[in-house]
Amino acid sequence: MKIVGIACSPRKGKATAHALKECLKAVQTAVPSIQIEMLELADFEFNGCLACGKCMKEFKCSQEDDFNRIITSLDDPALAGIIVATPVYFGTMTSQCKAFLDRCVIFRRNGFRFQNKVGGVIAVGGVRNGGQELTIQAVHAAMLIWDMVVVGDGRPTSHFGGTVWSSHPDEVAGDTFGLQTVHNLGKRVAELAFKLHG
Ligand SMILES: Cc1cc2nc3c(=O)[nH]c(=O)nc-3n(C[C@H](O)[C@H](O)[C@H](O)COP(=O)(O)O)c2cc1C
Repeated sequence: MKIVGIACSPRKGKATAHALKECLKAVQTAVPSIQIEMLELADFEFNGCLACGKCMKEFKCSQEDDFNRIITSLDDPALAGIIVATPVYFGTMTSQCKAFLDRCVIFRRNGFRFQNKVGGVIAVGGVRNGGQELTIQAVHAAMLIWDMVVVGDGRPTSHFGGTVWSSHPDEVAGDTFGLQTVHNLGKRVAELAFKLHG
């Protein structure tokens, strides 16, 4: 069983990556047998979907770019869940995150390969209330369209997912409430993934 985390900042190793790492740590604490994998989109070069229709005919993308490496990671029978972490850009996800979601149409068109996988989302904003919840819900929309099982951050914080403030004077590490939502999300994803796929 594996959970893949996708960090959707154009900046490698920054606040979004930090929050996602914390979340994946919580996954492993909750269910130690789960394997975790983290991909940072900053390491990949790919554009959005061209709507060419090729993936309607076969499990192949017409664009020969780095996204094919992401397909390989996600097209794994061991996949039990996906955690998407994105910075908030103007109240929603980054363009890198949207390109990722759109390119994932290949999984929907080829047997709904994400069906029943557990989905969770983290949004990292520069301000405390900069659109994190709206951003999370925008990513949830794609997950629902893929027929995933979406979870929030679970008790006791129990709202939409990980909501992080990156410009706290002590950076993400100082955002204790945000980190609590991130840890709760990881626990919730792990527990449900284990129930459904363990
Ligand atoms: C183009 C742009 C738009 C942004 N819009 C918002 C916003 O609407 N709300 C917010 O809270 N932060 C906003 N930010 C701040 C980022 O969300 C914040 O710096 C975040 O930590 C970036 O993630 P990273 O450190 O992982 O790259 C914006 C940043 C950029 C570059």
